[in-house]
Amino acid sequence: MTDFVNQINKRRTFAIISHPDAGKTTLTEKLLLYGGAIQLAGSVKGKKTAKHAVSDWMEIEKQRGISVTSSVMQFNYNDYCINILDTPGHQDFSEDTYRTLMAADSAVMVIDASKGVENQTKKLFKVCLLRDIPIFTFINKMDRDAKNPFDLLEDIEEVLGIKTCPINWPIGSGKEFKGVYDRGKDEIIAFTANNGQREVEADIIKLNSPNLRDKIGNDLADTLMDDIELLDGAGDELNLDDVRHGRLTPVFFGSALTNFGVEPFLEEFLKMTTPPLPRIADGKEIDPINTPFSAFVFKIQANMNKAHRDRIAFMRICSGKFDKNMEVYHIQGDKKMRLSQPQQIMAQEREVIDEAYAGDIIGVFDPGIFSIGDTICSVGDKFVFSGIPTFAPEHFSMIRLKDTMKRKQFVKGISQIAQEGAIQIFQTLGGGMEEVIVGVVGTLQFDVLLYRLKNEYNVDVIMEGLPYEYIRWIENADIDVKKLSLASDTKRIQDLKGNKLLLFTSEWSINWALEHNKELKLSEFGKN
Ligand code: G4P
Repeated sequence: MTDFVNQINKRRTFAIISHPDAGKTTLTEKLLLYGGAIQLAGSVKGKKTAKHAVSDWMEIEKQRGISVTSSVMQFNYNDYCINILDTPGHQDFSEDTYRTLMAADSAVMVIDASKGVENQTKKLFKVCLLRDIPIFTFINKMDRDAKNPFDLLEDIEEVLGIKTCPINWPIGSGKEFKGVYDRGKDEIIAFTANNGQREVEADIIKLNSPNLRDKIGNDLADTLMDDIELLDGAGDELNLDDVRHGRLTPVFFGSALTNFGVEPFLEEFLKMTTPPLPRIADGKEIDPINTPFSAFVFKIQANMNKAHRDRIAFMRICSGKFDKNMEVYHIQGDKKMRLSQPQQIMAQEREVIDEAYAGDIIGVFDPGIFSIGDTICSVGDKFVFSGIPTFAPEHFSMIRLKDTMKRKQFVKGISQIAQEGAIQIFQTLGGGMEEVIVGVVGTLQFDVLLYRLKNEYNVDVIMEGLPYEYIRWIENADIDVKKLSLASDTKRIQDLKGNKLLLFTSEWSINWALEHNKELKLSEFGKN
């Protein structure tokens, strides 16, 4: 195998998704520890007093002490080269979180064992389903009192509609947590709380060992035997084809904080995931090995470094090898170019790179020419990767200009910020640009918008919250929107390209619209 093929085959690119506080940051940190990317647990996230995540690039993030942006971390583990795409986990997450999932080949879903599937996980999961990517579940915090493991599996199956197959099985939880039973190896890994550092001595007992009952007690041993019988008899089998098409999720139980079950999870996970798979462009498969360099832009980040006022376009490499000095072709701009200052980003460290391969994420300096979803390929190639959908915003505000003399700056600012994909802008039917409706996925984006309009464009605006929570794109091109029969609290709007949309305050009004307009077709995702 040539080095080039080997480089691509060893890549694993995945995102970690979870509801805030389920333990995503802690698990990521432990994974980095195994990869040797950090030396000491606790260095990714400081203690509460000095708590702001390492990816604090924007001033506003520092002010609020939370992370708005998604970062990418690369490290080697055994023979693998791993790219973890971090997704903002705070309540105020943004469309970037969704778009990051477009760049991943699989997702790790972290669930808090005392809570089960929570709201934000549900939303992120829906986006994973759009692409049928494999989803691996890590049920975390087993060292705390947890729900019954069968109930947790049922929750995942019912709420998310995906089959489950536990790879290991917990023995007790909280103070009674004794470890996990590894179903494949037929042995028990006893729980040893440690300070969360890398060196963990695994205490392993075979299921038929005479010491088992001494170790975990009679009650838990009886429960375990019953559970194993039930799982073997009634549970879904591990079918890798189902895993790879997102129809079944392998489930692991553990405790990220105490570093219990993290390395076995990583090893099994790496075996089950695939190297970068072909991506679709113009209806054809683009093979990662046989096609020269190609990539698409999935995220644009403004002002990561205020001193430079720069903008960084993040691309996922889909095929071939990227060389620092190579000439590439930007399809949407119809231009040959060199990508300047290509870099890989590790937490807040940026490192200029010379080469990268399919599966990798690179950030390049963007003088304002890229948009989300753009394709970049080798000179001579011409294909366009299927676009990244526009995700439905959930919060809406009316934004008005305070000083009408500043109209030009306002339009420029709001259009540029929308082009980066941080916000979406809409107008009332036939409305102008003095007053726009802004839609965001997470409310923090409103603060970011006001801050940036003031700081970068010197524009003051008045913002008024709107009661809508749902937006739907009207798919029928020929429908007369004014004639639709709608509930009184439904609003007709359009985007800047003239697409027609509806804003609703409740799911009830969406159903009302569909029931009273039989031909009406609504979509939760806009096409780009
Ligand atoms: P997130 O990124 O998904 O939002 O979660 P994060 O890792 O920040 O974890 C949220 C809280 O849960 C943290 O506590 C963390 O220490 C704790 N935690 C994570 N994994 C486990 C686990 O396996 N067991 C237990 N018992 N706790 C866990 P915190 O008090 O909010 O923050 P900190 O002071 O520890 O930083």
